[in-house]
Amino acid sequence: MLVTVFSKVVTILAILVSTSQTGYGIFSPPKIPRSRNVFPSAKVVNLTRASGPESIAFDPSGGGPYVGVSDGRVLKWRGKKLGWTDFAYTAANRKMCVRSFAPELEHVCGRPLGLRFHKKTGDLYIADAYFGLLVVGPAGGVAKPLVTEAEGKPIRFTNDLDIDEQNDVIYFTDSSSRFQRWDYFGSFMTVDKTGRFIKYDRSSKKATVLLHGLSFPNGVTLSKDRSFVLVDETTNFKILRLWLSGPKAGTQDVFAVLPGYPDNIRRNSNGEFWVAINYSIFNGERPHTKAVKLSESGEVLEVLEDKGKRLRYISEVEEKDGKLWIGSSVMPFVGVYDL
Ligand SMILES: *[C@@H]1O[C@H](CO)[C@@H](O)[C@H](O)[C@H]1NC(C)=O
Ligand SMILES: *[C@@H]1O[C@H](CO)[C@@H](O)[C@H](O)[C@H]1NC(C)=O
Repeated sequence: MLVTVFSKVVTILAILVSTSQTGYGIFSPPKIPRSRNVFPSAKVVNLTRASGPESIAFDPSGGGPYVGVSDGRVLKWRGKKLGWTDFAYTAANRKMCVRSFAPELEHVCGRPLGLRFHKKTGDLYIADAYFGLLVVGPAGGVAKPLVTEAEGKPIRFTNDLDIDEQNDVIYFTDSSSRFQRWDYFGSFMTVDKTGRFIKYDRSSKKATVLLHGLSFPNGVTLSKDRSFVLVDETTNFKILRLWLSGPKAGTQDVFAVLPGYPDNIRRNSNGEFWVAINYSIFNGERPHTKAVKLSESGEVLEVLEDKGKRLRYISEVEEKDGKLWIGSSVMPFVGVYDL
């Protein structure tokens, strides 16, 4: 609780610092149409002795969801009767990892923040804040590290990833070269710009830094046709688009500016994007959660929010079969909203 209150104060300070740097002030919000306060009626699937289901993924046969939680485990939902079971771990030695929320042990127990299944192999790729990019087979167990450094510099804060199976590459973010996850507010406070966006080539096993000097790069997602990849800069309230093919290949532009801190981005089957916003910060409103749906060209299509207290600190919105599965960096449940 103390941490939450403290981080709220820090967040407000960070907003003041970063808005003065980005040039659009706290009183000139981007207009957000089609906002609906619908999340107070969302259902929840409670976790058992776990919290902070930051990222959500379904396996290639539709099983799950799988979620990465605060104590370093990846859990699998097996339906109401069986509930949640352990699927994978990012730390091999879990002797000390017995409490569901223990930020002081994150560097020992691991903290899975981004999950993606490789559809052809069924392997689960995990962006762990402390251990880099990891992979675990379809049967689960202890994940193996794949990438822990890029261009001679250790990856300090792996955050999210996406997989281009056709070209056999993985895109992922390293949120900061200075701050680790437990100290993310340090990064917010100083408007740290040491984040990196990295491409890992599975066949050559080579990691290449595509973008340097980013402000808390966080969520990653490819477009449906893989012509571009999106990466958000959380403390800049922006989503960047890096073109991968076509006439603009290799160049980047701003895809969207958001009304708060964007976390993970997930594409739906139509090629649209859901962006989870932990904290909305504009309009003089009390900070709250928003899920923003963007079109393939970055227009806001829809905003679902919670002006109450049911869904808070959301980190990811995954659309599947007419439902939104909603993750959170702190809450002890996954939200489920029927579209
Ligand atoms: C989830 O947990 C909350 C708080 O303990 C409880 O009030 C609620 O009934 C639970 N919901 C479900 C669906 O089990
Ligand atoms: C979202 O807000 C909560 C509460 O301040 C915090 O604990 C959490 O780490 C935040 N997540 C991000 C990604 O900013």
